[in-house]
Amino acid sequence: MDKKDTGEFVTMHDPRSGKEFRFPIIDGSVGPSVIDIRKFYAETGYFTYDPGFTSTASCDSCLTYIDGDKGVLMHRGYRIEDLAQNANYLEVCYLLLHGELPNQQEYDEFAYDITHHTMLHDQIQYFFRGFRRDAHPMAIMVGAVGALSAFYHDVTDINDERQRMIASYRLVAKMPTLAAMAYKYSIGQPFMYADNSLSYAANFLKMTFATPTEEFSVSDSVVKVMDQIFILHADHEQNASTSTVRLAGSSMANPFACISAGISSLWGPAHGGANEAVLDMLEQIGTKDRVGKFIKRAKDKNDPFRLMGFGHRVYKNYDPRAGILRASVHNVLDELGVTAEPLLDLALELERIALKDEYFIERKLFPNVDFYSGIILKAMGFPTSMFTVLFALSRTVGWISQWKEMHEDPRNRIGRPRQLFLGEDKRSFKPMDQR
Ligand code: CMC
Repeated sequence: MDKKDTGEFVTMHDPRSGKEFRFPIIDGSVGPSVIDIRKFYAETGYFTYDPGFTSTASCDSCLTYIDGDKGVLMHRGYRIEDLAQNANYLEVCYLLLHGELPNQQEYDEFAYDITHHTMLHDQIQYFFRGFRRDAHPMAIMVGAVGALSAFYHDVTDINDERQRMIASYRLVAKMPTLAAMAYKYSIGQPFMYADNSLSYAANFLKMTFATPTEEFSVSDSVVKVMDQIFILHADHEQNASTSTVRLAGSSMANPFACISAGISSLWGPAHGGANEAVLDMLEQIGTKDRVGKFIKRAKDKNDPFRLMGFGHRVYKNYDPRAGILRASVHNVLDELGVTAEPLLDLALELERIALKDEYFIERKLFPNVDFYSGIILKAMGFPTSMFTVLFALSRTVGWISQWKEMHEDPRNRIGRPRQLFLGEDKRSFKPMDQR
């Protein structure tokens, strides 16, 4: 859908020059309208000031819509609850990449293409061996995904639509292989090749948990849980890592380099690294009687401690992804044969107390997707250091779809924010002996 010029304007009176300026109001299909300030500097001589981009729409997009007040997340018009319940991850990937849910034939072709591109250039395993065994798997992912540009240089012409699509398929297909290799490398087990007879999620679980010496089997319900976690992380509008991918891509950098940049941004504990941090926090809290003490610390402005898995820039209501995971966590643990998970009891207690606390109510701080995902991933056998890698694997389709969308837009320009300069004005150079 195209944006609509409403014919309406916001008027700004500049007290310094006494002039009036008018800026067009533009409507999207749903959600807040925007004020078009593209000519703001040229007309007024001012920059706008918005550190952290709290009020800035940095691009047009048709992929993902969030209504943070109502706790709504939709991909191309489909609610996340609907997709998580009824679709599989590859259908969601197709939806993000192509704009529509696939029919049977489109799905079969897509699944075939993704499945048949899971293998990596064999030389990549030697690249892995340069890492220390105790390297964090996210450090490996940043390096290995960036290195794909050296192995698949044939699809780095970003002006070629077909190359863009091939690179996108390759990334979606190869991320599980790379993620599983990062894990295998860290525990000293041999890399497992992909098995083309399996689904995307089952294949990833096999590459991660199988060894060449044993038969591997995994229940359908565990595969379903993995697939659902992939769906819940597939895309999330213009968050820090997605904006990083777009900004990197705006300079016409190749797609593998851009996704590596996204992985770097995701790694931080304020973003995708929070799922790892939630488990660390729950382990640190230890027992229910200590919850109050940590809530107190989270509220103390002199203490850097924050409740990990709580709060969100956009959601001022329950994160719908957290809602889905919370509703299914008990069933999932039952399926996995986990009879008691003290960390889940602790998490529920923490949530119960926080949601009644004035500090969290006032600031509209609710659990986000990372609050429950770690508990499920732990029960599935993933070490905490792999949690953010799984986020990166799932989010790759969102990143690359956003990257593609940016390059399909003829108005795409290099991203170049401005600044409010507060440093020294011009100074004369002082020789060393006069400083
Ligand atoms: N614990 C305690 N206080 C918090 C928390 C928290 N988790 N989150 C926000 N606050 C307070 C913050 O101190 C501030 O208080 P005040 O107004 O008195 O100064 C107020 O709430 C607003 O916070 P903010 O830092 O201005 O909000 P933000 O939009 O810049 O940050 C956030 C959003 C997600 C980075 C932040 O809520 C946070 O650090 N949460 C913990 C980390 C986390 O769970 N991250 C995962 C995000 S969801 C997955 C993803 O998309 O990556």
